Amino acid sequence: MKIMTGRKFPRGMGHDFSGVVEGIGSEVKRFKMGDEVLGVTPVKTSGSFAETLTTKGALAIAKPAALSHEDAATLPVAASTAWTALVQKARLKPGQSVFINGAYGAVGQAATQIAKALGASLTGRVAGDAADAARGIGVDAVLDYRQPIPPEQYGKFDVVFDTHGGLTVRKESRLSKPGGAILDINSSFAKIVRIFLSRSRKFVMGKQDEATMREVVALAAQGKLKISISRTVPLDRAIDLIRSLEGGERIAGKGFVAVSAQ
Ligand SMILES: NC(=O)c1ccc[n+]([C@@H]2O[C@H](COP(=O)([O-])OP(=O)(O)OC[C@H]3O[C@@H](n4cnc5c(N)ncnc54)[C@H](OP(=O)(O)O)[C@@H]3O)[C@@H](O)[C@H]2O)c1
Repeated sequence: MKIMTGRKFPRGMGHDFSGVVEGIGSEVKRFKMGDEVLGVTPVKTSGSFAETLTTKGALAIAKPAALSHEDAATLPVAASTAWTALVQKARLKPGQSVFINGAYGAVGQAATQIAKALGASLTGRVAGDAADAARGIGVDAVLDYRQPIPPEQYGKFDVVFDTHGGLTVRKESRLSKPGGAILDINSSFAKIVRIFLSRSRKFVMGKQDEATMREVVALAAQGKLKISISRTVPLDRAIDLIRSLEGGERIAGKGFVAVSAQ
């Protein structure tokens, strides 16, 4: 991980952002001062928990007026990762069946709504208290992750997407149809090894490039994709929020760090 994120401290925190352009590098042609944009900061620098941030032009896109800054800021990492997995890696088609482990997390909510928009049927594993909310965003069949997966689910899915990372290699393979796609975004030694042994298995690194972010932002602007924000804190409480999440606080979807306009 340190290879990707860099080792230098102190360093900024926060990756996703939505805001207004206040300065432009000489090589950036797509934006002008005052444009509303969303995107990510570079992985090596991070730093979106801030009143102002610097990023590369290629890591930002225009924010549609139909989207609030709050909703826009939930999309770059979570929704782009779900899109990379389902569309670019699994090549999901209408009518296919998808199993999502962790269907009401941030990536899971995005994956559910993207799969639904593409015409797939969905089985999602969530905490029991999130069952109704998961149905509300399009999960057709809800399973409680505190219960074992019923064997009648085995062999049913064209795509198995473990957003949480808790499914074993064996469970994923059992759920998948022969030749179905198995997608992971959390690595474990066992899963990484299997990727080299099976063409069906893919480890997905979400892409936050212009093309991918445009796709998810277009869906969101059409009202087909929204990731819930269940905790909002001001900038000076961002560290408290991170500590609380690291300490096990459960939030459905995203926590949001609000930076007031100067
Ligand atoms: N490879 C990549 O590019 C990439 C990109 C983004 C994220 N990630 C990783 O992917 C993971 C998910 O990210 P996220 O933002 O969606 O996190 P998240 O919002 O915390 O979602 C995780 C979900 O998993 C659920 N869960 C907890 N225990 C479970 C279990 N035993 N079985 C099934 N589901 C369970 C949680 O439910 P409750 O909260 O209700 O318990 C929560 O809804 C994180 O580890 C993150 O680091 C990887």
